[in-house]
Amino acid sequence: MSEDDIRMSNMLQSEVINELSLRPKRLYEFIGQSKLKENLNIFLTAAKQREECLDHTLLYGPPGLGKTTMANIIATEMENTVHVTSGPAIERAGDLVGILTNLEPGSVLFIDEIHRLSRPVEEILYPAMEDSKVDIMIGKGPAARSVRIDLPNFTIVGATTRQGLLTGPLRDRFGIILHFQYYDTDALFEIIKRSSDILGYKISQEGAKELSRRSRGTPRIANRLLRRVRDFAQVANIETITAKISSEALNSLEVDHLGLDRLDINYLSTVIGKYKGGPVGLETIAASTGEDSGTLEDVIEPYLLQQGLIQRTPRGRCATEQAFKHLGVSYDRSDKTLF
Ligand SMILES: Nc1ncnc2c1ncn2[C@@H]1O[C@H](COP(=O)(O)OP(=O)(O)OP(=O)(O)O)[C@@H](O)[C@H]1O
Ligand SMILES: [Mg+2]
Repeated sequence: MSEDDIRMSNMLQSEVINELSLRPKRLYEFIGQSKLKENLNIFLTAAKQREECLDHTLLYGPPGLGKTTMANIIATEMENTVHVTSGPAIERAGDLVGILTNLEPGSVLFIDEIHRLSRPVEEILYPAMEDSKVDIMIGKGPAARSVRIDLPNFTIVGATTRQGLLTGPLRDRFGIILHFQYYDTDALFEIIKRSSDILGYKISQEGAKELSRRSRGTPRIANRLLRRVRDFAQVANIETITAKISSEALNSLEVDHLGLDRLDINYLSTVIGKYKGGPVGLETIAASTGEDSGTLEDVIEPYLLQQGLIQRTPRGRCATEQAFKHLGVSYDRSDKTLF
């Protein structure tokens, strides 16, 4: 390994350690999502009082809002172990049978990207979730027979960026469905203060406010920007992150005052510049921007929709008047009936 490789690997390692140490471990440490937490707290308390497992739980929402964090919190709060896997990692039905039959009673099986399970694997889950049983085939050909095996009680926690991608039968088997919303600036402010305490770097109130406004409603982005702004402050020999250094650093990182980054701006300027604000189909936007349509739908569009910068119409995506203003383009759409 060259010196550069070692430095790079140390840097990546420290990012991973930071990411882990910034993750809240208990429900009371988890900032924001108050309605979701309130409900979950009741379900956890009730399950513990009855000495039962928590019902199967589906967590959904855009990337970086805390789904993986919450899955781990659920296991900690239930005082049990968590096994982690993901949709694409379970290739064959037999792999899932192996995982299920090795679960300890009461444990949590976290399946990330659960919408990416293959159909045969998903079908193993149905009886496992409904009756705590799996069906396995023994033997081959005419002598083959199916045997039902009892499983211990357990909780499946599934995470997905889009609930709509789950098949109906799978979605229906989750007793608890929790929807993560983008965070408001007050919650992001608290997250940034907490993270800067853990990282051991001071940040002023105004510095934290500036960062929280520009974090795209997402704790993962807030933490990432905080680390980058800290780099700028450290190199400039500034002990406390102020609004000024935050703003300068974020401008250098091409994050604008709404928190939009280069991908968001590229999306908006394509819809406005090339298609006069739409309506334009998702696939056309994907081809014009060079982005994958899944990324546009999962990552870019939810925030632009939430900010009122685009609309989804039956005829395609449209940029709103606010998006024209944001890009500093005059609003001269001929078909204004859509708005
Ligand atoms: N409510 C919160 N309070 C404090 N920090 C949070 C909160 N939610 C998320 N984070 C931070 O944001 C990071 C990203 O969260 P997490 O990995 O749980 O997101 P995710 O929803 O699983 O994303 P993905 O869909 O990409 O898997 C975590 O490492 C954690 O530090
Ligand atoms: Mg995750």
